[in-house]
Amino acid sequence: MPADRHQPAATPLILVPDAEFDGPPDIEEAVFGGSARLAIHRAHKADEIPAALWRDCAGIMAWHNVTIGENLVEDLANCRLIVRVGAGYDNMALAACGRRGIAVCNVPDYGVNEVADHAIALMLALGRGILRYHGAVAADPIGGWTVDKTPAIRRFAGLTFGVVGMGRIGTAAARRAAAFGLRILFYDPYLPTGAELGLGFARVDSLGALLGQSDIVSLHTPLTAETRGMIDAAALAAMRPDAVLINTARGPIIDLDALGAALEAGRLAAAGLDVLPQEPPLAGTAFVEAVRRGEPWTIGRVIVTPHAAWYSRDSYGDLRRKAALVARDFLRDGRLRDGVNRQFLPAAAS
Ligand code: NAI
Repeated sequence: MPADRHQPAATPLILVPDAEFDGPPDIEEAVFGGSARLAIHRAHKADEIPAALWRDCAGIMAWHNVTIGENLVEDLANCRLIVRVGAGYDNMALAACGRRGIAVCNVPDYGVNEVADHAIALMLALGRGILRYHGAVAADPIGGWTVDKTPAIRRFAGLTFGVVGMGRIGTAAARRAAAFGLRILFYDPYLPTGAELGLGFARVDSLGALLGQSDIVSLHTPLTAETRGMIDAAALAAMRPDAVLINTARGPIIDLDALGAALEAGRLAAAGLDVLPQEPPLAGTAFVEAVRRGEPWTIGRVIVTPHAAWYSRDSYGDLRRKAALVARDFLRDGRLRDGVNRQFLPAAAS
């Protein structure tokens, strides 16, 4: 239900098209302190929002469901800022926004610890057989009371944890893995020379080298034209047959059919996925159907979680508060924070 606040007309209007919180926007209003009017909607598609709101809003706080595509940007006659209420911004037409002078920002820091914890939790759950053991005991408390000799269960200390994308979350995951005695290796062509010295982790200069040397590969890149489909059949073939693949970044980075084929053929030990190419998954997706049916090659070797790595009660509150702060500081004070389309903005706006 729309919940437009009644404030003086000069107060900028901020549209929240797809709020993913229940109840009133109390956290946001506490930040704005009356300096903005909020129009809260819970739409799943842009055309569920009245055109006048798209036209009139000075700012947008966009959650996950509504894509801000090029066509929609044409309708944003008064918009100066879009805040992606989240870290990933692959559902935003960055260049089109920039051409219209609309700054796009994200909230990069609300759930770094949670996502890193989740990546490690997937690794530990697979490598320690947690789900498999629990399933066996729950099904048969006496017969299931036995140690599983599956090769997926290994000693972590001494293994190599390979990070693809050593940014905020990649670094946090690497630090955690190091505490388990894993050796850290990373591939990130965009970090400056010497970043490896500051971090104290070994670096390789190709994805192939990382895949060939790692026992656990954890993906932490953004979704870009370059990373879409980066883990395809060839990349999977470059991995060790007893390796584990973890993806808490973005689903389309992995070719899911190729991953299923590699697991089924025993060319990869296990996979832990928090993200999928389509979310929720499309009905009939072969990989997901295999998980649902409990195909033998998925048991103890595949864990799927519903894009939940970011969530904790604390990160959720941080996300809402920080997104509102980014919007308030820009619309009230002209301060642009965590801009992700600066390269497309006219010089004066960036
Ligand atoms: P970040 O921007 O701090 O780090 C990304 C790193 O990837 C950068 O260092 C960049 O240089 C590197 N990179 C870019 N292209 C690369 C390539 N082709 N090969 C190797 N490295 C490359 O990003 P952050 O905040 O650490 O987020 C990482 C990922 O986690 C993003 O995909 C984000 O959308 C996702 N995410 C997932 C969440 C979840 O709930 N599952 C929640 C929050 C973020």
